[in-house]
Amino acid sequence: MRIFKFLMLFIAFQVSAQQGGMWIPSLLEGMNEAEMQSLGSKLTAQDIYDVNNSSLKDAIGHFNGGCTSEVISPKGLLLTNHHCGFGQIQSHSSLENDYLKGGFWAMNLEEELPNEGLYVEFIVRIEDVTSAMLEGVTDNLTPKERQSKIDINRNKVVKNLKKEAWQGFKIKPFYKGNQYYLFVTERFDDIRLVGAPPSSIGKFGSDTDNWVWPRHTGDFSIFRIYADKNNRPASYSEDNIPYTPKHFLPVSLDGIEEGDFTMVFGFPGRTNEYLPAVAMEQITKKLNPSNIAIREAALEVIDANMKADDQIRIQYASKQARIANSWKKWIGENLGIEKSDAVAIKQQFESEFTKALKAQDKEQKYGNILPDFEQKYATFEAINIKRNNFVEVFIRTNELMLMTFRLVQLEKSLDKGEEAFEKTKKSLINQLKSIHKNYNATVDKGVFEAVMPLYADNTDASIYNKTALTNLDTALKLLEGDSKQVLKKLNKDAAYKYAKPMVLEFYENIEPEFQRINNEINTLQTTYMTALMEVMPEERYFPDANSTLRVTYGKVNGYAPRDAIYYNPVTYLDGVIEKYVPGDYEFDVPEKLRELYNSKDYGQYADKNGKIPICFLGTNHTTGGNSGSPAIDAEGNLVGLNFDRVWEGTMSDIYYDPEICRNIMVDLRYVLFIIDKYAGAKHLIDEMTLVHPKK
Ligand code: ARG
Ligand code: ASP
Repeated sequence: MRIFKFLMLFIAFQVSAQQGGMWIPSLLEGMNEAEMQSLGSKLTAQDIYDVNNSSLKDAIGHFNGGCTSEVISPKGLLLTNHHCGFGQIQSHSSLENDYLKGGFWAMNLEEELPNEGLYVEFIVRIEDVTSAMLEGVTDNLTPKERQSKIDINRNKVVKNLKKEAWQGFKIKPFYKGNQYYLFVTERFDDIRLVGAPPSSIGKFGSDTDNWVWPRHTGDFSIFRIYADKNNRPASYSEDNIPYTPKHFLPVSLDGIEEGDFTMVFGFPGRTNEYLPAVAMEQITKKLNPSNIAIREAALEVIDANMKADDQIRIQYASKQARIANSWKKWIGENLGIEKSDAVAIKQQFESEFTKALKAQDKEQKYGNILPDFEQKYATFEAINIKRNNFVEVFIRTNELMLMTFRLVQLEKSLDKGEEAFEKTKKSLINQLKSIHKNYNATVDKGVFEAVMPLYADNTDASIYNKTALTNLDTALKLLEGDSKQVLKKLNKDAAYKYAKPMVLEFYENIEPEFQRINNEINTLQTTYMTALMEVMPEERYFPDANSTLRVTYGKVNGYAPRDAIYYNPVTYLDGVIEKYVPGDYEFDVPEKLRELYNSKDYGQYADKNGKIPICFLGTNHTTGGNSGSPAIDAEGNLVGLNFDRVWEGTMSDIYYDPEICRNIMVDLRYVLFIIDKYAGAKHLIDEMTLVHPKK
C-alpha cells in the first residue's frame, strides 16, 4: 500500500509538474508540497499555512473583495496593484490634484488618505466542513431537497463555530459542491492610501499593452492598514494606529532568473475548468462575440471623448478601464481556445470519459450527463445571450439605463411595503450621487446610441433631452415625497418610461428563465464533477476559483506564441524607453524616469547586469482576483507583484494550456526603485526588510 501510494505520487508528478492549478493552502502537504519542492521551493506546507504559528498566509489580504494585497512591513504597509487601487486614487483626484496623472506619495503618516468603504480581509484559519455540510445528502434527493438539507447543515456548522467576537467567517462550496470549507476571517476597514506612481508608470501601455507581453507596466500602489489600540480591526478613526501584522513579507533584492521557482498566493475570483465542450463552444462562439460587440461600441464613444477632454478623462478613467479590460480579455480568450484546439481536446476527453463509464459499468449511473449537457446548453443559448447582453447594456456600459434599472427596482420594492421602499430609496439616492459624481450626459448619450441598437429595436435617444435623470438635482427631486408621489413622477419621466418595459421583461421573463436553466446546468455540473473524480481518479483535479485563498506555483518561464518566436521572460527599463512616445496618452514616460535611465541612477535595485527589470513571466495559474498577489520565491520572500496574463493564455479560466498560459508580474526591484529613486519616499523602503537570499 505504501509503495503503491508512493508510486502514484511519483507518476502523478512526472506528468503533471507545472500543469497549473489553484490549491487550497491548508491542504498542501503531500502532492503539492513535493511538487513545489521539485520545482525548487524550500518551503514546507507549514511555512505557507499554519494555524498555530504565523505563516505566509497571514501576510495575504483580500483587497476590497476583488483583488489581493500583501503586508510588506511591520507597520501594516500594504502592496497591491495600481489598477486595484485605481478607484481610490481616482476618488482623491481632481483637476488641481490629479493623482492619476502625477502620482501620490504620503511623506508621513499624517498625509495618508482614508478611503471610505475600502477593506482588507485576512484568513485566520480554514476548516474542512464537508462531512458536516453533506450529512444526509444522498444521490436520490432532488436539487431543492439537497439545498434545504445543506442549509440546515450549514446552520449547525455555524452554531458550533468557535471564533473571536471581532472575527467573521465564510462557508464556500468547492468542486461544484462536492466539498465545503469554512474560513474564519479578520476584516480591516481603515485602509489608507500611501503611494501611487503616475499612470504613465502604473498604467504604462494602458489598453494597447493590457493582457499583452512584452509588458513594461509598474502596476503597483501602496496602502496602510490601521487598527485600534489593541491592534484589532476597527472602522476609520483618527486615533487608529498602524497595524502590526502576524507576518509580513521580506523583499528580495536578488530577484529572479528563468527557471526559478515562484509561487503566487492570493484570492482568484472565478474559473470554470470542468466545462463540457458544448459549453466552451457556446461561450467562445456565441456569448463572447455578442458581449464584445456591445463593449466595443461603448468604448469607441468613451475613448474619443476622453482623448478630447481632460475633465472627461478623469471622470471616465475608472469606468473605461473596467469596460476595456473584459472586452480585450474575451477577444484573447476566443483566440486562445481556437489556437489550442481546446474544444476538440475536451471532446476527446469526453469520449475517454464515456469509454471509462462503459469499462466500469457506470453508464446507468452517469451515462446521461454528456447528452443532457448537449440538450440543456441548446435550450440555454438564446436566453444566456439575451441575459448577458442586458447586463452589458443596462449595467456595465450605459449609465442612464443603469439609473432607470435601479429606479424600476425601487418601484418593485413597494411590493414589500413602505418600509422596504424607503430603504431602497435611501440607497438609491447614494447610488445616484455616486453615478453623478463622474457623469457626463453627452458621453452617456453617445454610448446609448452606440449600444442600444445591439439590444433593442426601440432606440429613441431623444429621452436624453427630456429626462430628469441626467442632472443630479433634478434626479433627486424625482425622489422627493412619499411612495405615491415618487412613482407618479417617475412614470412620467421619459427615460423611465422608455426603459421600464425592458427592465420588467428582464425581471419577469429573462432572468427567471435564465436562472431556471442555469440551475439545472449547475446541478448537472455537480454530478459531472462527482463522476469525473470517481471514474477518472488519475486526473489532476483542483477546485475552481471561488474568491477564496489559493496557492498556485510554477517557474519563471518564457513562451513561444507563434512559430519561430520565443518571448524572454523578463523585460527591462530599456524597453520602457523603446516604447516611449512623447505626449502619448498610453506611452508617455515621465521626465524624471527618463533622467534616472540616462544617468543610470539605479541604487541597489539593478540586477547583476546593471539593468532595472520591469516585469517577468511565470507558469503560475492565475485569474482575475489574483491581481495584487505576491509572487514569492523559494524561501518565502517577495520577488514580484502579479497583475495580468499573456494574451495567448487568457483562456486559462476555462482551459489551462501549460505551453502558452503565463502570468505577468512586476519585478519588486522596479517597485522599490520607483518608490526610492523616482518618488523619493525612502522612508517606506526603510520600513521594509530587504534581503539577499542568493548571496
Ligand atoms: N488585465 C489585467 C486585469 O485583468 C489588468 C487590468 C488593468 N489595466 C487596464 N489597462 N485596464 O485586471
Ligand atoms: N488582471 C487580473 C486581476 O485584476 C488578473 C488576471 O486576470 O490575470 O485580477
